[in-house]
This record gives sequence, C-alpha cells and structure tokens, in this order.
Amino acid sequence: MTPTNDTQASAASVESLLARMTLDEKLGQMMQPERMAVTPDDVRTHFLGSILSGGGSCPGDNRPSDWIAMNDAYWAASMSTEGGRTPVPLLYGVDAIHGHANVLGATVFPHNIGLGATGDSELLERIARITAREVLATGVDWTFAPTLAVANDLRWGRTYESYSEDASLVARYASRFVRGLQGDMGRDGVVACAKHWVGDGGTDLGYDQGDTILDEEALTSTHIAPYLPALAEGVLTVMASFNSWNGNKCHGHRYLLTDVLKGRLGFSGFVISDWDGVDYLHEDYATAIAMAVNAGVDMLMVSVEWRACLAHLKQRVVDGTIPMARIDDAVRRILTVKERFGLFGKARPADRYWSQVDCLGAADHRVVAREAVRKSLVLLKNDNAILPLAPGARILVAGRNADNLGHQCGGFTVAWQGTSGNESVPGGTSIWGGIRAAAPGATLSVDGSAASAAAHDVAIVVVGERPYAEGMGDLRGQETIGAGSGAGGKAKRLAPYGDSLSLSVLHPEDLATIRAIRDKGIPVVTVLVSGRPLEVNEELAHSAAFVAAWLPGSEGAGVADALFGTHPFQGTLPFAWPATAEGATYPARRASSLFPLGFGLR
Ligand code: GLC
Repeated sequence: MTPTNDTQASAASVESLLARMTLDEKLGQMMQPERMAVTPDDVRTHFLGSILSGGGSCPGDNRPSDWIAMNDAYWAASMSTEGGRTPVPLLYGVDAIHGHANVLGATVFPHNIGLGATGDSELLERIARITAREVLATGVDWTFAPTLAVANDLRWGRTYESYSEDASLVARYASRFVRGLQGDMGRDGVVACAKHWVGDGGTDLGYDQGDTILDEEALTSTHIAPYLPALAEGVLTVMASFNSWNGNKCHGHRYLLTDVLKGRLGFSGFVISDWDGVDYLHEDYATAIAMAVNAGVDMLMVSVEWRACLAHLKQRVVDGTIPMARIDDAVRRILTVKERFGLFGKARPADRYWSQVDCLGAADHRVVAREAVRKSLVLLKNDNAILPLAPGARILVAGRNADNLGHQCGGFTVAWQGTSGNESVPGGTSIWGGIRAAAPGATLSVDGSAASAAAHDVAIVVVGERPYAEGMGDLRGQETIGAGSGAGGKAKRLAPYGDSLSLSVLHPEDLATIRAIRDKGIPVVTVLVSGRPLEVNEELAHSAAFVAAWLPGSEGAGVADALFGTHPFQGTLPFAWPATAEGATYPARRASSLFPLGFGLR
C-alpha cells in the first residue's frame, strides 16, 4: 500500500518522537500492567504505555463514571512533562468480547458461538459498533477482540469464544467485527485486537493452553486464514496465544510472530503477550522475557510483577541479549498504533465525546442484542410442530437456567468466571422474564415440582451449563497439562468444569426435571443454555422440541420471540452436534454427527 501523505507525516512524527525518548521511556511503552498493581504515579515515574483490566477487574462501584475517572488519572499521568519527561498518551485495554460485559448495566451480547449461529456478518458489524461506543462511554480505548479461534474440540473451555469450527465463517466475520470496532479510527472507534495468535482452538484434546499438533499447511488453512481479512482491515493489535505449536510456545515463536505475522503477512501494528504468557517460556523470568521479546512480542501484559519484568527487560537490553534495534522496532510499532488511533490528538478521557454520553445498556443497543439472540437460536427438534407456542396456552417454565441472567451470559461477565443470579446483570431480561412478558399466564417452577397435567398444556425447561472461562471450562480429567514449551516452562493448571461431554453426566438434574414433567404427560420444550454443543441424546428423547440457545447474554426476551413465533427460528449450527460423548473432536464429530454443521429447523 503506497503511504499517503498523512501516513508519511505520521511515520515522521513517530520517528521524531522515538528519537527523543530515553531507554527507560521506550521500555515503559512496552509494559501493560494490570490496574490493581499500578497507580497513576507509577505511570508517571515508569513511563508506562498501557494498562489493562483483567476479567472482572473493575474500579469503584463499577459504573461508567468510575471507569472514566480511573483512566483519566492514568492518562493524565502518562502526559506529564515533569522533569523533562516525554508525554506519550496511555492506552487502556479490556476484554469487551461480548459487549462491555465487565461493567454493570452494559449491553451483554451473545457469546461468539451464538453469533456464529446467526450467519449474519452485517449484524456482527453493528454489534461491534455498539460495543465500541459502550467501551468509549467508560473512557477506555482498546478491547481484546475479536477472538478468531477456530475451535476443533468441544472439550475446550473457550469453545464459546469461537464463532465456528468452519474457518471460512470465522474469516467472513473477522473483517466486519474489526471494522465495527475500529471504524475510521475517529471519534467512534476503539483499538481492536485479533487473538490468539495462533492455533488456540486446535489444541490436542481441547486442553486450554495445550499443544496444537498440526503441519504448517493445516495450521495455515485453518487457524491463520481468519487473520488475513482482519489484517487487511487494518486491525491494530494481535495477541500472542498461550498454546504451543508442535511443542513450542507461541509466545516464544520467532517464526510465527516475526517471520510469518510481521514478515510474510506484513502486520505493522504491535503484538501483545497474553496474561503473564511470557512466564511459561522458561523457569527463569529474565530468560523468558528475552525469549518473548526477541521472538516478536512488542508489549508485555503483566498481572502483578511488572516492576521485575521492567528491570529484567532493561538488564537484557543493557547486556545485549535483546538488541536495541528490536526495542526500537517494538516501540515504533506501539507509537504507530497510538498515532493511527489518533491518540495523540484526543482529549483526556473525561473530556472525550462518548465519555459525556450515557449510552451503556441503552434501549436501542438492547434491541440489537435481542435481535442477535433470536437469530442465534437453533431449532433441533419440533415434534408435531409444537412450536411456536400460543401465548394463551397454560405454560409452566422450569429448569436451573430459566431465571438466571448470570448463567445465560456466561464467562467474562462482571467477573472473569461469570456470575449466578439476576442482580449482577442490571437492565437484563432472563429467559423466564421474556416468556412471562410474551405469555402473562405462564408460571415458574425451577425444579418443575408444580407441573400438573391438569393445569399445564406445555412446559418450557431451560437447562445447561453454569458460567466458566478458559481452562476452567475444559472437559477433562485433573491430569496436568504439558507445558508445551521447548524450554520446559511452567504449566498452568486450572480445575476443569468436568470430564464428560454428556449433559446428563455434567448436570443429571436437568434430565431429571425434563423426565419428571414428561412423565406427568406434559410435552416439554427444552432450551439448552451452554457454551458448546453437548451430548444430549436422553434429554432430546424426552423433549417434544429442543432449542440450542448458546449463551444469549442480557436480552433473554429474544428466546421468547422465537418460542412464540413473533420471529422465525433461523439459526444454523456453527459446530456439528456430537452423537456421542466421544464425539468431541472435529473430524470424528463431522463424520458421525447427530446434526451436521449448518443444520437448523425453520
Ligand atoms: C486472558 C485471556 C485473554 C484475555 C487476557 C486479558 O488470560 O487469555 O483472551 O484477553 O487474559 O484478560
């Protein structure tokens, strides 16, 4: 792409800024500590270039004003010129991966697996634009989205963060979501982050942060392919992945980070590590840092030990282990992203346009989220066309997930591992709340004990998983996960969700509720709230109708829209549905699926 005048001007301004910066100021730009470990004064004295909120790390009362005040203070410190300090505005990052769901009152969209079921890339761009505005309404500049994982094994705890097992669908969404978030890099845009580079969804046995064992052709066609449209759209940042490729950690993989991503694919933004992802490269922290930076990591996301990280980084530059040219390349990339994002020209966070607009959870945003919910629903069974239901029918609603906003939102909602109950998602509507609005005569009996054929024509039973995130969503035994690093680094061990793909093993209470109601002669419409397809043969057999609702988010009324026929079922499976508990893995699942990729009754 021939640089335009403003590109040349911005490159010149980056070079002149870089030339003025001291070594300490350059190294500070490469650090991204977590907010709980750093004060504005630390930003000023250590020249820090970025800060993040990890999942659930929220300031004050977790209201927009608290977020704006927090980042305004950090930004002001980054712009200090005290003692001849070079002012470089700070970037604040957060996981707004299904709306700005850390923040109380935000619009919480369906997680990516549900968006994959919509097949609607135009809707995705609208969702991304709304998400950008709600992020900006809290004074934040950068979201670690979109996730471009192509999940292979349903036992992976992050399957719900993947749009589909079909790389071409993920690729179709990638550029639209980046465009929705970044826009024209003007007032309404935030910095996007394509993640996790690369092969996060392809690990052996679906182990989170495990080893993706593939030849380069398969890695390229499945896991690298979705990044091409995101890079073409100008995504400004890429996050390195925890997983390994054929035994070598991506965080230390020079070929993948530098030769392929920055060289062959021409990525000119910057690479950020994942959460302490550097630590797992080597038992010696300083060695691990040098491995990551020399491999091509430009910014280091550090949960707590950022002071030690900064000291080791400087030591490794002084002793020549990390060439100064590599530091200048990393800092040039970071400054270029800030320049392209217009950060140097923006007002302080508290004075920016969207900081004055209380649009978090706005009604028009929730309308789009409700549209996404109903378009994401996949109808798997509908015996005797029992659906759509008549609003005047005598309806019993039951099941653990019927009236639980925390469960229907899933992980990365207010807390890293998500929440339970309705109070943590203010402004949201549970699936029960949506049904009651559509059919005022409906009654709720979570355990189904109130069911009686004399009083009820039909039961809607909402079942499935409770929230989880990352490795805590894995379905596996307690065995340790290989570190996957050639240098024998540390391995992360998180307690898994369970060790079966069968809903009747994970939550036998669900089948018990369905059967108890069915045995009273009441037909059951089952709605599954889950982060992935599960083996549900028994539950299906006892249901007259069965709907996959994924993790719908705050607008549960979208489920009633389809159950009562105000809108048709139109969702299609983004993952083939397993016929057995052993059908977790993509090739096997495709060969003997219960319902194929793309299936969905109308
Ligand atoms: C987590 C996730 C990553 C997220 C980051 C910051 O460990 O792997 O997707 O963006 O840390 O929360």
